[in-house]
Amino acid sequence: MSADATPSTLASQITRLRAEIAAHDERYYRQAQPEISDFDYDQLKRALADLEAAHPAEVAALGAVSPVRRVGDDRSEGFTRVKHRFGMTTLDNTYDAGELRDFHARLVKALGTEDLAYTVEPKIDGVAVSLTYENGHFTRAVTRGDGEEGDDITANVRTIRALPALLASAPSGDDLLAAEAAPPQLIEIRGEIFMRDEEFRRINALQEEAGEPAYANPRNLAAGTIKLLDPAIVATRKLEIVLYGLGACEPAPDAESAGGFDSQSSFQARLRAWGLPVVEKFWAVRGVEAVLASIAELDALRRGFAYPTDGAVVKLDAFAQQRVVGYRGEGQAARKLSPRWACAYKFAPDRAETRILSITLQVGRTGAVTPVAELEPVLLAGTTVKRATLHNADEIARKDVRVGDTVLVEKAGEIIPAVVEVVLAKRPADSAAYVFPSDCPACGTPLAREEGGVKWMCVNPDCPEKIRRRIEHFASKACVDIDGLGEEIVDLLLSKKLIRGVPDLFHLTQGQLLPLKKSGEVWAGNLVKAIAARRTADLWRVIHGLGIPQVGAAAAKDLARRFRSLEALAEASLNEIIQIDGFGEKTAESVRTWFNQPAHRVLVAELLAAGVTPAPPALAHAGGVFAGKTLVLTGTLPSLSREEAQAMIEAAGGKVSGSVSKKTHYVVAGAEAGSKLEKARSLGVTVLNEGDLRALLAGA
Ligand code: IVH
Repeated sequence: MSADATPSTLASQITRLRAEIAAHDERYYRQAQPEISDFDYDQLKRALADLEAAHPAEVAALGAVSPVRRVGDDRSEGFTRVKHRFGMTTLDNTYDAGELRDFHARLVKALGTEDLAYTVEPKIDGVAVSLTYENGHFTRAVTRGDGEEGDDITANVRTIRALPALLASAPSGDDLLAAEAAPPQLIEIRGEIFMRDEEFRRINALQEEAGEPAYANPRNLAAGTIKLLDPAIVATRKLEIVLYGLGACEPAPDAESAGGFDSQSSFQARLRAWGLPVVEKFWAVRGVEAVLASIAELDALRRGFAYPTDGAVVKLDAFAQQRVVGYRGEGQAARKLSPRWACAYKFAPDRAETRILSITLQVGRTGAVTPVAELEPVLLAGTTVKRATLHNADEIARKDVRVGDTVLVEKAGEIIPAVVEVVLAKRPADSAAYVFPSDCPACGTPLAREEGGVKWMCVNPDCPEKIRRRIEHFASKACVDIDGLGEEIVDLLLSKKLIRGVPDLFHLTQGQLLPLKKSGEVWAGNLVKAIAARRTADLWRVIHGLGIPQVGAAAAKDLARRFRSLEALAEASLNEIIQIDGFGEKTAESVRTWFNQPAHRVLVAELLAAGVTPAPPALAHAGGVFAGKTLVLTGTLPSLSREEAQAMIEAAGGKVSGSVSKKTHYVVAGAEAGSKLEKARSLGVTVLNEGDLRALLAGA
């Protein structure tokens, strides 16, 4: 930050960084599809934290909560929300040994002694989860959520084979444990769900076969998997778990009847004695030098661990000392922030040095332009890397990346490597700052900056590159799934001017195709047949294939269910679209805006004229009492299980959702209904009991 920065540019800089971080949070926590590496993300967050710390007045004037002070939020639709008994906090990451020394120095000061005992544990790069065991029985698994309240993923976690449903209570024989290891009445145990590399590769291969997007790394796949709504599918993917942390415990952990553990190291031993999967190794040491030595040992061992280990977590060992130093923000903020008794140290990811030969731009089907570094090939984490993403123009400017620069590329388990840093010392004397092109590389139209975002977009609806990508998308397995119509054939058809857009596909004849391939008779016949068969593709596939921004498969299915034809969807009002459960203003507006564009109206008309009559979803329950209605179940009903109630509602055409909003039509509440019932009341949503539900279903 230059010294002469004015308050207003500071404020806009802070706001911009916050927005950027929020967008990455959304992609990481909710969509499990991050766009940048953890390292880059940490850098952004650090830059914001430094900026905010240096300018408290501007920060105060901005008002809104900074992402620096927030844990991400992973909560998603379709899950029951559960409050953690003890909030789930997170830790800031450091990549710097100096900061570990500072951490120790702070504790020495707070506790008045140099001689501090620590544990050093692997930092597992998985998805945080909180398990509840009651009298030794596994009863619940909840995601971190916003730290206070997470999603109930119990059914999915039950598919993890190594997780015992019942804790062992036999004596452990471990020195650290004198008493018998009987589990407490209630305990929240924290850990990470992860996936091994092998399993990650197996599932990604299947994803690609099915035309679905590949997951960036094992962590994102694990995060996506625990958020699947069908535990039967979760069971086909091998999730694993490792436990290391303590949440609530009743009675208190040092009580004899709770197991009598009073430190992180005795807790770790207790976890093992209970038969839970724990870290392969942890270090119990005294003083910061021993901590640093343990971290070095861990670094040498970690590649042999079952779980991805991206760092070390250093914890003050004694619970009594942890209580003394407590948490940041305790007492003042509504929720606890990070513990003062722990510190996360991250290892820098695998990197290699190479040179940027050129920077090319990729135009996606939405028109988003992504800069790519074309590299001198280099070996990185076992594969040869020739290209790396530069993310966007802002990132290029922030890192001052130039053609001819020597750069560090990084691959932290991700599929696409990224340029993380320029080696300035090796910059050629004659290098010039990279000027992001102002025009689309494919069609020459001036690029426009995405509203409120960081991407530059080609806004020409007729851009040949966009058209090519759109046709590919429409024909892809994830959308209309036209057999035999891959990238290569789309290119061929475009270059021979046989098609200009998606509708033309449906007019192709065998005669036009025949000359394209030597003895292409069978091929031409098959392709024409494959295309014709898709005139009656499922409506949602066609909607997905249109490539409306914000509309993926799930939203396309909702739209198909609600509007049942392309014509009806094209005419739907913004208000009608917003009414769909799970649709925010942004998605609804995107749909409406898309259909408002003359070129898109023409596209739809041409599809219809070409005889495309997509099939709406089956209408089994349209006449049901709950047709088009969204219900939320909460609490325990007297005689119906959750599954039974849900099946009855769905059979009557209703949809069961996990959270209460203005769009909820009814909340069905049973015994011990909690926050959802309160929310229903505060929003004025009709509350039913089991009797009311049965009466409505019976048509009374
Ligand atoms: S202790 C009190 N121990 O990394 C909050 N966390 O960057 C700290 N993690 O939120 C939790 N391995 O999700 C702890 N051995 C370990 C860990 C670990 C991975 C995760 C956890 C935490 C984040 C901190």
